[in-house]
Amino acid sequence: VTQSSAAKAPRTPTLPDAQTVTAVRHYTDRLFSFRVTRPASLRFRSGEFVMIGLMQKDEKTGREKPLLRAYSIASPSWDDELEFYSIKVQDGPLTSRLQHIEPGDEIILRPKPVGTLVHDALLPGKRLWLFATGTGIAPFASLLRDPQTYTDYEEVILTHTCREVGELTYGSELIESIRSDEMLEELIGEGFADRLRYYPTTTREESPKMGRITDLMRSGEVFDDLGVKPLEPGTDRAMVCGNLAFNLEIKAMLEEYGLREGANSEPKEYVVEKAFLD
Ligand code: A2P
Repeated sequence: VTQSSAAKAPRTPTLPDAQTVTAVRHYTDRLFSFRVTRPASLRFRSGEFVMIGLMQKDEKTGREKPLLRAYSIASPSWDDELEFYSIKVQDGPLTSRLQHIEPGDEIILRPKPVGTLVHDALLPGKRLWLFATGTGIAPFASLLRDPQTYTDYEEVILTHTCREVGELTYGSELIESIRSDEMLEELIGEGFADRLRYYPTTTREESPKMGRITDLMRSGEVFDDLGVKPLEPGTDRAMVCGNLAFNLEIKAMLEEYGLREGANSEPKEYVVEKAFLD
């Protein structure tokens, strides 16, 4: 190798917006969560997402470039680190590689949080419904650890529909940790845990409550189980995050209940966001 050809060879790029992985946990062969260092300047509203990813070689040019996807921040805004909850898709462009990260590895994180699953996009109400399927629970993991969620609403209901029981672990451990969180209790007041309701369901494996949440709403079962009335625009607010088919179906149902879709610029009664599926 001559000097000139060495000088022309592409240099290893320095990772732009690199953050270091601090922890990884695998839940099932389809799901894992991980934590990364938080850029000192990053401020975000509970429920927002950022673009994260890895460097990847462009087949045509041979240059390394970032491969990025939208990931909801699952950690609360007061946390020193950032937490994410992800699907693993064996032939997915990003998650086929991302699932192998380990503490000490670097990922790319663009520090520009955005999103519609935020308190600002909803008008004041009495009861907040958080409807999730699969990894769609991630933004709610942040919102449920935000004291504002409990000061703004008298009651908060999280529904989580997954295929299998093992896919509920992240959510059930989250709810347990929130209910026993002394700092949250000090901030919000004693008994706040009773105002947080959790309604997990599975569709492809036996569990105490089976069925899609949409079907359980149509039949009225979920309202009977929780002892609350079906949604009404005067009292109920909703945030939705899941797969596309679910989002579309529940959106139509919420409209039938009389709720209207809100946005940051125009708060209304419900908001929707698609969970990332590689
Ligand atoms: P099902 O098993 O009946 O398809 P996924 O892992 O594919 O994203 O699905 C997560 C959960 O969302 C599954 O329990 C799945 O149920 C459910 N689901 C899929 N489509 C809909 C829909 N249109 N309405 C309600 N739930 C849905």
